Amino acid sequence: MTSAPIPPRYALITGASYGIGEAFARQLAAQGWRLLLTARSADRLQRLQRELQAGGSEIRIFPADLAAGGAAQIAQTAAAQGLEIELLINNAGFGAGGDFSQIPLDRQRAMLDVNLGALLELTHAFLPPMRRRGRGAIIQVGSVAGFQPAPYTAVYAASKAFVLNFSLALWRENRAHGVHVMALCPGYTDTHFFEAAGSRRPKGAWMQTPEAVVKAALRGLARRQPVVISGWPNRAVVLVTRCLPRRWVVHAAAWVFRERRELSETPKKEH
Ligand SMILES: NC(=O)c1ccc[n+]([C@@H]2O[C@H](COP(=O)([O-])OP(=O)(O)OC[C@H]3O[C@@H](n4cnc5c(N)ncnc54)[C@H](OP(=O)(O)O)[C@@H]3O)[C@@H](O)[C@H]2O)c1
Repeated sequence: MTSAPIPPRYALITGASYGIGEAFARQLAAQGWRLLLTARSADRLQRLQRELQAGGSEIRIFPADLAAGGAAQIAQTAAAQGLEIELLINNAGFGAGGDFSQIPLDRQRAMLDVNLGALLELTHAFLPPMRRRGRGAIIQVGSVAGFQPAPYTAVYAASKAFVLNFSLALWRENRAHGVHVMALCPGYTDTHFFEAAGSRRPKGAWMQTPEAVVKAALRGLARRQPVVISGWPNRAVVLVTRCLPRRWVVHAAAWVFRERRELSETPKKEH
């Protein structure tokens, strides 16, 4: 009797061309995962594919713009190629710093399309098959910015608050079905993020490497944690903000995201 062929199982990583997504790709490839990588930068994805394949990994790439219907294309391609997505990492995202009223609406909308819309769509596409199989995991990349309102990066922080709350709700809905949903909440991480946001790298801020963030995430996944805040200083900040009146927290966030940046950008006086 011949048994049906077992479909290849993959981890799908969005935003794999830079930073945290690229670090996920390297660490998961080292663990033997087959990968489906996506982002807009086809050249960077190809380079990463060549490098990881040279190390013996099976890597597929799919360049797509998540602000322009990319999520549906990715889901269709995975289905057409018969790939079982066992681990979905909704990592792609970007920020825009500044006064809400001054940031073009198109940019804010695109941010929501990538940070929320694509995450929602890919989760909706890949969660039902995971549940049917009774196994799988989804990592939603949020941010410590999602734990409080953040003036001067208001839409970004609100999008990450959605990611956090949505993920926790899905964690509870799906844990009896063998599917683990986890929110990964990094703090400042040394990636292409600041360049993409058009903002300066925060000077003097505690900064993690993307490799350390991913290591914490994979440890949290193995322990089936619902939320991973990477790095103890970030965990301490979140804990403190939970204990303070909300108004104070908003003032403090305004200082962090505007006043502090302005101070660090003020040219030093010549004596
Ligand atoms: N770095 C931080 O300090 C920090 C802190 C907390 C949370 N995070 C979160 O971590 C995640 C990864 O960010 P990162 O720090 O690794 O930043 P990054 O180095 O700028 O990487 C962002 C990734 O998202 C992809 N992306 C952006 N817009 C896209 C679009 N329209 N369509 C498809 N892909 C798109 C980028 O690829 P292409 O440009 O090639 O499309 C890139 O691969 C984000 O969700 C971010 O919000 C970052």
